[in-house]
Amino acid sequence: MPKYKPYKTEIVDPSGVDTSILPRPMEMGSDETRDAKVKETSGEPIVDYAGETNPYIDYQSIDILLSLQHPRSEGYDELCFIVMGQVKEMLFKGFHFELKNAQMQIREDNLENAMEILTRAIAYAKYIADTWNVLSTISTEGFSEFRNNLGTASGQLSFMYRHVEFVLGNKSKRLATAHKNVSHVWPEIERSLNSPSLYDDVIQLLNRRGYNIDEEMLDRDWSKTYQHNSSVEEAWLKIYQKAEPTNDLYNLGEKLTSLDENFSIYRWRHFLTVQKIIGYKPGTGGSAGVGWLEKVTSHRFFPELWSIRTNL
Ligand code: HEM
Repeated sequence: MPKYKPYKTEIVDPSGVDTSILPRPMEMGSDETRDAKVKETSGEPIVDYAGETNPYIDYQSIDILLSLQHPRSEGYDELCFIVMGQVKEMLFKGFHFELKNAQMQIREDNLENAMEILTRAIAYAKYIADTWNVLSTISTEGFSEFRNNLGTASGQLSFMYRHVEFVLGNKSKRLATAHKNVSHVWPEIERSLNSPSLYDDVIQLLNRRGYNIDEEMLDRDWSKTYQHNSSVEEAWLKIYQKAEPTNDLYNLGEKLTSLDENFSIYRWRHFLTVQKIIGYKPGTGGSAGVGWLEKVTSHRFFPELWSIRTNL
């Protein structure tokens, strides 16, 4: 990007922001109130609101949200890095919500709901991967202008991302430990580390549907990363013998594969972008950088759904 001290856009005067994180009180609308309003306004949008705010701002606390971007350097690229970092955290939150709900619906044997939810989860994964389109416009020199301001801050400290990895079954006690000192975050991370993943619930479902799953897969140490198991592979192989749209477990298998595929694309694009921006320099979070990211890139959440392909 151009190398000059950027013109800073001041959008919100922070002194006027109600910084409470609680939902703000709002009036409910209805078809009747909207019908009455549109008569009053002759079809033009409302522009006169009493008080110091309006319902759009209040519904999602937009003024707080837009007051949370604080570049710490004069580097042109830093605002882009901060905005995209925050956007990604939001997307991880939405993605995780869908994954958790898909897991719960599978637990309740409601595959129809789970499939609908997983379709959205896949759309999230694709969207998250596309955020690298914007981030990869950051140049090596542009990144160097603010990299020191990060100190040891690094994406590997993202607790939201860790929740995503954990619900998908890629557990790590070590990486979870990074959040132990954060009392408002740690209890949920610890719970998530020690709980069955979405795929663990899928395996329970296969077992309920009569596939012969090894006992040790049905009650294992959930804090351990899921590892390939031959009884699970055998079950998928049988399911894939009937690769038809009427076979709901086959449909589920394909959905999960697509989820894994799209999340791998996200990871791969992160790795590539990092390689392009910092080359082989160490990461800010203490890792060797691209070398470490390359290793995590090869992880697959649902290994049997990949390994069966050779035998189909
Ligand atoms: C664009 C510049 C970026 C660079 C150069 C970069 C670099 C790195 C590096 C080197 C690591 C390895 C850990 C370490 O820091 O030592 C890492 C990890 C990570 N980064 Fe980035 N990153 C960038 C942007 C982002 C953004 C915007 C996000 C999203 C919030 C992000 C999310 C992550 C996550 C979640 C990890 C941990 C991966 C895992 O646990 O598998 N990165 N990044």
